[in-house]
Formats: sequence, structure tokens, C-alpha cells
Amino acid sequence: MKWPASRILESSPKSFGMYEKSIPLMEQGLDLIHLEVGRPKHDTPINIKEATKRALDDGLVHYGDFAGNLNFREALSEKLAAVNGIRASVDEILVTNGLTHGAYVTCHAAVDPGDEVILLEPYYPQHINKIELAGGKVLTAKLDRAAGFRIDGDAIREKLSDKTRMIAMVNPANPTGRVFSREELQTVADIAIEHDLLVMSDEVYEQILYDGNEHISIASLDGMRERTISQFAFTKGYAMDGWRMGYMAAPQEFMAAFLKISMNDVAHVNVFIQEGGYEAITGSQDCVREMVADDKRQRDLVVESMNAMQGVSCPAPQGTIYAFPDVSSFGLPVATIADEILEQTNVVVEAGTFYGAGGEGHLRICFGAEPYERLDEAMQRLHAYFAGKVAAK
Ligand SMILES: Cc1ncc(COP(=O)(O)O)c(C=O)c1O
Repeated sequence: MKWPASRILESSPKSFGMYEKSIPLMEQGLDLIHLEVGRPKHDTPINIKEATKRALDDGLVHYGDFAGNLNFREALSEKLAAVNGIRASVDEILVTNGLTHGAYVTCHAAVDPGDEVILLEPYYPQHINKIELAGGKVLTAKLDRAAGFRIDGDAIREKLSDKTRMIAMVNPANPTGRVFSREELQTVADIAIEHDLLVMSDEVYEQILYDGNEHISIASLDGMRERTISQFAFTKGYAMDGWRMGYMAAPQEFMAAFLKISMNDVAHVNVFIQEGGYEAITGSQDCVREMVADDKRQRDLVVESMNAMQGVSCPAPQGTIYAFPDVSSFGLPVATIADEILEQTNVVVEAGTFYGAGGEGHLRICFGAEPYERLDEAMQRLHAYFAGKVAAK
């Protein structure tokens, strides 16, 4: 007998990239600065914690609604209409265990064995296994690097076949920090409508925007609501990554399928935590604005510092907590550069190729996870590393 199941063994290996490589060094007690993991440095706002504690004290400890607490879904329905321009009734919303769970449920509900799903590359690698575990095949369509990783309709069209089922995208984009424009989203929408495809839209960074950039949900475009599964989470904008809570809105016909998967998987999301989510979206949004203002200060530090390093070019990310500097002038694979940076400076950055071959030439630097002083220290170490490379040329 061979086990585990071949479906699991034959899917792509799971990798945590440079974080995995840093584990043995952490065990040796080295002073590592982590710029590879996308974990917000902020604490969860106090009003959200208090609402959750109150719910617990009030006895919200029993089984709840499988789709999510009704009061919460009502508030989410209002938020989706007001903020995202998405009309979704409470029966078209599923509260999920973070965006990860929403994406997993989506892939199982939407993808049949043999179906093809197109990811925009550089992509968020954690979507790959979900598609494969559902029996789907992943194809990638490169974003236009020369144009700052804009959506390229021709690159998507090249990957279409009669097996294409879905396009999966992340907006605002991880790892590039791009916030896609209406025109770019329209390109995806036109393709999806013309070829009768679904779109899975991961909007986990919807609140983290800079310089007046506006987040547009693709489901709000004409003809897209009925073919888009829009996914959100409290993870980044409200610094609630450990809480594990998100939600998604989808066409009504998906809900029974979602519930079939989700009920067998987690039954439902923890009921008292959902009261924290309710407070997050119905309470004051000042906490989000303050956290984003702080993220911007850290973004500016990274952009300014990296651009001052000879051979490095770092456009300002429009959103997210990631910079994606171009280090191709050094003529080395970025995986080598990321390894050298770890070995020589104890700073952990991710190689752009972790997000697919389309990320070659770039590093991904998370500026939202470490305190300002540590980030500044990391920039000095990187400065010394790149100065050494220039001197050795
Ligand atoms: C694009 C993207 N989607 C999903 C997630 C995971 O979200 P959650 O923690 O809510 O599952 C992340 C986390 O880094 C992410 O960057």
C-alpha cells in the first residue's frame, strides 16, 4: 500500500522560501532581521479585542451559523456595497478562516479535475496548491515587467484553452505592490466575459494603499459580479493575522457548494471572534488609517534607502507592505542574491523567483513587519552588501 494519497504527493512541493532557510540560523541565535514574512507589526486595535472579550463573557461559545454570524454577514453586506461596490446579500457571503480558507473553498467549489486556472505572474505562491489539490492545472500569464508589472491582456489570452476555468488574481498585488487600475481590471473582465470564465479575486490588502491610489474590486465592473469570487480578510488591514478570519462574496449558486466544503472542513468560524470582526468593520476606521500611515513611513524609508544603493532601483509600491526592488543590474540570479544577503548580513529577504520566473531580477522586501529602527538597520546592512558588490565588479 502506498500512502499518503497520490493526489497529495503529486501536487507541487510546499515551500516557505527564505523563511525556511532562516530557521537553522535562528536556532543558532543569530540576530536576523525578517523582511521576508508578510506579518503586520501592529497590534490588533483595542476596540476589536474588547468586543471579542465581551462576546466571550456574554456566552457566545456555542455552535453558530455555518455561513457566519447573521449580524456579521449583514454588516459585511453593507460594507461590500459601500466600500467595494459589490451587491451581495447575506446569502451570498461566507465568513472564512482567513483568506487562505476562502481561497481553498473557492478552488474546490470552482475547479474540476483537468480544469486550467491562470495566475498572474509574479503570483502569490500559496494559491498553487489549492488549485492542484482540487485537481486543477496552474498556468501563469506574466504581468508586464517593463511597464511596472501591469496586467497584459495578450499574455493572458495566450494561455487560454477550452479547459480554462478561472483567472486568479491578487489586487493590490503581492509581491509587486501594484494597485491595478480600472483599465487593467477591465482587460481581465473583458477576457473573462468573452470566454465565460470565473475570476478569483484576492483582495487581502484592500485597505493598504498609498499616495491616493484607489482600490477597485473587479466584481464591481459591469458583468463581473456574476462571475467573480471576491475574497477579503481582516489579516492585514486590521492586523489580525493570527485571528484567522476573512469572508468572501460570490454568486448565489456557489453558496451551497461553499457550505458543503466549509462545513466538512471547519464547520464554521469561531463565533466570538466574529464579534471582533463585526466591531472592526462597524467601528471607527481611524485605526486602519493610523496603521497605514505608519506603513507608509516604513515604505518611504525602504524606497529612499534602496534607491540610494548603487545598482538598485526601487519604485514606490502603490499598496501592500511589499517593495519589489530591481537588482538585475548585478547580473546574478536573485535566489543567489537573497542567499548571499542572508549569509553576509543576517537580513532575510525573499527572492522574486519565489513568485515565479517572472519575478527574476527582483527582491521582495516586506517593510510592514519589523519596527522602524530594525528596518533602518536592515537598510544599512543591505547598503553595505550592495556597495561591496559594486566594489567587486
Ligand atoms: C495575497 C495574499 N493572500 C492571502 C494571504 C493569506 O491571508 P490569510 O492570513 O487571511 O489567510 C496572504 C498573506 O500573506 C497574501 O499575501
